[in-house]
Amino acid sequence: MLIDRFNRRITNLRISVTDKCNLRCFYCHKEGQFSNTGVEMTPEEIKEIALVFRELGVKKVKITGGEPLLRRDIVEIISLMPSFEEISMTTNGILLEKYAQELKESGLSRVNISLDTLSPETYRKLTGGNIEEVVKGLDSAVNAGLTPVKLNMVVMSGINHNEVEEMIEFISKYNSNGIKVILQVIELLKLPELEKYYYDIGSIEEIISAQANGFRVRSMHHRKQYFLNSSAVEFVRPIDNTEFCYNCNRIRITTDGKIKPCLLRDDNLVDIKGLKGDELKKKIFEAIGLREPYFVCNKGGGQVE
Ligand code: 5AD
Ligand code: SF4
Repeated sequence: MLIDRFNRRITNLRISVTDKCNLRCFYCHKEGQFSNTGVEMTPEEIKEIALVFRELGVKKVKITGGEPLLRRDIVEIISLMPSFEEISMTTNGILLEKYAQELKESGLSRVNISLDTLSPETYRKLTGGNIEEVVKGLDSAVNAGLTPVKLNMVVMSGINHNEVEEMIEFISKYNSNGIKVILQVIELLKLPELEKYYYDIGSIEEIISAQANGFRVRSMHHRKQYFLNSSAVEFVRPIDNTEFCYNCNRIRITTDGKIKPCLLRDDNLVDIKGLKGDELKKKIFEAIGLREPYFVCNKGGGQVE
């Protein structure tokens, strides 16, 4: 088992498989990876890392990017993965129509799709892409059973902050026979250059919670999920949630094969590219030892299940 000095148990592994992306979302935090080395791990190297983390108690894996579907060997990467409670992928959905079925057959459990708006013009302005492709990708993911699909909606002041209800209505179309699409309303990460678009999603959460038929609290970062009509909506507040770091059960692997103990730090990476077995395990323990909450608050530590 992997438990860090702050008594946080590591159960979620996020593996970035490429830095490349076919969109240019202006707010993109690039999974905290700001230097692009151009080096990518092979499917075998990814498999080896996943195997050792599984042995050490990781339950869920998320494949991230860049845009993971730009890897020509993405189906091979998923096929080679050992089994986990869940293997999911965060994608912008542009290429998903083509891959959804094959990915499901290769063992992918579900996808998160980035979709911040339903307006083709706003989508084009935010990302440079064509929203029709994303909606086709979403349909294909639902049809292939890559469910529940989570739609990631990053809220930005003056851009889409008043589109949440429209988005809830949109997803409810998919949910008439059980929940297939969940909306994740995400607070913009307050990077200095994004300050003017920052919007406190607490006010949106208040409105939605008043309309909800019920809610549940998820262990991960204490996120609340509300149920309304036949849909589910979740609020993700990385900055204002002071409990965030104390409940973090994630660890990341960068595209070039380095363990990144914390999303918000770049000064404590541990290189594991190409390593196997015990050598790999040793480095993993070293990286776990470097984990430290970035945002400090006066709550006690400990993992919530
Ligand atoms: N703030 C919040 N979330 C972000 N993402 C990317 N950049 C940011 C940011 N600045 C998240 C979104 C997107 C996924 C790829 O990463 O959820 O869907
Ligand atoms: Fe970043 Fe994702 Fe947008 Fe690509 S699609 S630019 S990785 S947020």
